[in-house]
Amino acid sequence: MRVGVLTSGGDAPGMNAAIRTVVKGAIARGWQAVGVRRGYEGLLAGDSVNLSLQDVDGISRYGGTLLGSARSKLFPTDVGQAQAREQVAAIGLDALVVIGGNGSLAGAHRLAEGRPCQIIGLPGSIDNDIGHTRLCIGVDTAVNTIVEACDRISDTARAHRRAFIVEVMGRRSGYLAMRAGLASDADAILFAERPMTEAQILDKLRTLIKRSFSPARDKKRVLILKAEAVEISTEALTEKLSAIMEHDCPGVDLRYTVLGHVVRGGSPSAQDRLIAQRLAMGALWAVEAGLHDVMVGWDNASDVGDPTPDPSARTVPLADVLTETALMLDGSSHRNRHRSALLEEAEKVLAL
Ligand code: F6P
Repeated sequence: MRVGVLTSGGDAPGMNAAIRTVVKGAIARGWQAVGVRRGYEGLLAGDSVNLSLQDVDGISRYGGTLLGSARSKLFPTDVGQAQAREQVAAIGLDALVVIGGNGSLAGAHRLAEGRPCQIIGLPGSIDNDIGHTRLCIGVDTAVNTIVEACDRISDTARAHRRAFIVEVMGRRSGYLAMRAGLASDADAILFAERPMTEAQILDKLRTLIKRSFSPARDKKRVLILKAEAVEISTEALTEKLSAIMEHDCPGVDLRYTVLGHVVRGGSPSAQDRLIAQRLAMGALWAVEAGLHDVMVGWDNASDVGDPTPDPSARTVPLADVLTETALMLDGSSHRNRHRSALLEEAEKVLAL
């Protein structure tokens, strides 16, 4: 039995722990573990390597991915799929574990349709925008990194009595902004799942900053978390708001920081390592059980999918994962509505 593993799309802290567990678990079963480098780009090129226990020693503590990652334009096309099927056969894979986000799991499902070997997906994305998994590999570390950065920014902001807008990653998801915003005692959180016009955003922030720095409230800093997905750029928002504040609340110093890829790197938290390990164990179990075209999700808190020996890991057909993911991304999933409703409650006190 030859089990391949690849990481695809944006890397996420914890991917290495998942790779290590796939390799160790495969070898423990007497199987051969094969790493496919550079995601689907590497698969198309047949870029693979047999992995030994030594290759994965000590890798769990590192961010990024030992195997490298990529976003492939060719892979989802018919030509790409035919080439991928040929390479799976040439490498001699019986199963392939794909660790990645939405695009990567969509790719896994597409490949699974041609059934070149068993295909098992694992959710890996700091954005936490995948259906039927409460958490993706990498989210916990990213949230902690943002909170640490916000604490640092808050220290200097307090010293100068400044307002800061901090932009965090999340191409189509406000989860990181919401979660880290709450944990960093932010005064406001902007995310695209709650649509606001530019004028509404400016008005909300103007009122917030003015009230916060008023003699009656006398705050020392204002912290606004903004998700990348919010349409107005952080630079433009800061410029426009500064211009308004100049008239409305002179003396307020408004700055911005875009955390960008800082949030995606760094040593994975213990929780990310553990989730990655347990999901990877689930993937090996799924291979053994002969499953195909499924994702192993974490604590999805529903009866969607089927149980594995690990109570927190369930297998869900990739097709269902992709359908739920699409609902989450267009804001119509009940999970989004639940998150937004909770945040609306929290916001009643955030800005006080
Ligand atoms: O991995 C997801 C993500 O981090 C998004 O939040 C972000 O928009 C995107 O990746 C950035 O990707 P890239 O590194 O390709 O610019």
